[in-house]
Amino acid sequence: MRFSSVLAALSAVGSALAQQTYTNPVLWYDLADLDVFRKGNQYYYSASTMSFSPGAPVLRSGDLVNWEFIGHSVPRLDFHDTAYDLADNKQAYVRGIWASSMQYREYDDTFYWIGCVDFKTTYIYKAKDPAGDWSKVGEIGTCYYDCGMLFDGQSIYVAYGNTKISVAQLNNDFTQKSTTQVYSSSFYIEGSHMKKINNKYYIFVTQPASNEYVLKSDSGPLGPYEIKIFTKAPASGIQGSGNPHQGSVVDTPKGDWYYLSFIDAYPGGRSPALAPFVFDAQGWPSLKQANGFAIANPYPVPPVPVKSTTGTDSFTGPKLGPQWEWNHNPDTTSFSFASGGGLMLKTSSVTKDLYHAKNTLTHRILGPDSTATIALDISRMSAGDQAGLALFRDNSAYIAIHNNAIILQRDLTLGANWNTLSLGRTETSVSLPQGTKTVWLRLHADIKPAGSHQGVFSWSADGKTFKTLGTPYTMNTTYYFFIGYRFGIFNFAEEKLGGSVTVKSFDLALGSK
Ligand SMILES: *[C@@H]1O[C@H](CO)[C@@H](O)[C@H](O)[C@H]1NC(C)=O
Repeated sequence: MRFSSVLAALSAVGSALAQQTYTNPVLWYDLADLDVFRKGNQYYYSASTMSFSPGAPVLRSGDLVNWEFIGHSVPRLDFHDTAYDLADNKQAYVRGIWASSMQYREYDDTFYWIGCVDFKTTYIYKAKDPAGDWSKVGEIGTCYYDCGMLFDGQSIYVAYGNTKISVAQLNNDFTQKSTTQVYSSSFYIEGSHMKKINNKYYIFVTQPASNEYVLKSDSGPLGPYEIKIFTKAPASGIQGSGNPHQGSVVDTPKGDWYYLSFIDAYPGGRSPALAPFVFDAQGWPSLKQANGFAIANPYPVPPVPVKSTTGTDSFTGPKLGPQWEWNHNPDTTSFSFASGGGLMLKTSSVTKDLYHAKNTLTHRILGPDSTATIALDISRMSAGDQAGLALFRDNSAYIAIHNNAIILQRDLTLGANWNTLSLGRTETSVSLPQGTKTVWLRLHADIKPAGSHQGVFSWSADGKTFKTLGTPYTMNTTYYFFIGYRFGIFNFAEEKLGGSVTVKSFDLALGSK
């Protein structure tokens, strides 16, 4: 439950009439290019993950405000390119999964995900249980750029494209039957979300990164479509953020409509913002209030609590929680769960380059600011190994154990084509007390768009007293990397494989400690 709703709940004790309200972003995590839908009284959410693996997280909510991670639609980035495995000296940062679509198909009682990868192939995955195992259905040898899928009885439609918007019709086996250009815009649009509401067809599109338009056809899925503004540069309510845009629409069981979009809020990434909307007599939808995002709106349906992502993860296995993603496809032979808890990370790459190290385990940073603390058993590290906690993006910094010292490494960068430009420099190095077996590493990150953008690293030999290491690192706020800053836990070898560490716990707390 969010802080504002706790306050609202407390004030409700004094006034039976007080209504619980939510504020945006409803979940301050990087979950961009979302698609959302309802099945019964459950809402489902899909988002972009680029090169991170597993890809396309699935979230679930009972009220559109409180969301929990339940799984991933793409278990492994199985895209016919070893770059996704960080193999053959290749990297896949900024490639992979973006602006894809997840929907539920009543016809065969199955959840489907669809997305274009590398501008050339569209992949389809499915699952009976969205929290369970997903498997590949097939591939279509063309790119459905920024796609939105619609299941209409037995028919399957996919709206896609930029400026020229097309609708593909798929066969029952998810091969392409036909594709038709249904609209050509006089200005740039993308991010299609296709819906059928009261026998009219809609394609919501964005004029990035501020306005949302809607195409409507009263005739059929292939048009003809007319266009109208849905909302023009709405305020988000978050100081310094962009406008909510590129959203998906969903109704409640009562028939109220909501628009869930995302706001650019770097350095943290792009986070979901929710607002109610209505239809006019002709079926044109528009946001109820111009500032529908900025004000505290009442809950769409009574709050339904979800599993929190804050607190301590002790890695008890047998699988990682669905909030975790590796930097690329992991080397699954190099990590395991220790008996009694803890994630054992064997070194899996011989490199001096964090960006090229396999098996960096990442967690989104919780906004507006939060603190991650890991307890690390370092007793089986080898000479030259580096294990630690990173502020991970195309401009990065990290705290690590390296040859019995604690170091602060900063100014690592990716450059052209998202290949490594700089390994960074070691700002500070402090010797570890003799015989230290467990070290605690901590990172406080302020991702408010109008905040300090600073990451502060500290460490402890007893888990109680922490000492700050080096000077604060200022995060970069450019958007080109798309994915926002993440906490990254890593272990790589500079000399040879064989060493390991055990991440005994990861603790995430809102604010600073
Ligand atoms: C931020 O990152 C971009 C690349 O995404 C780079 O061009 C720019 O120089 C960086 N800014 C700073 C202040 O380091």
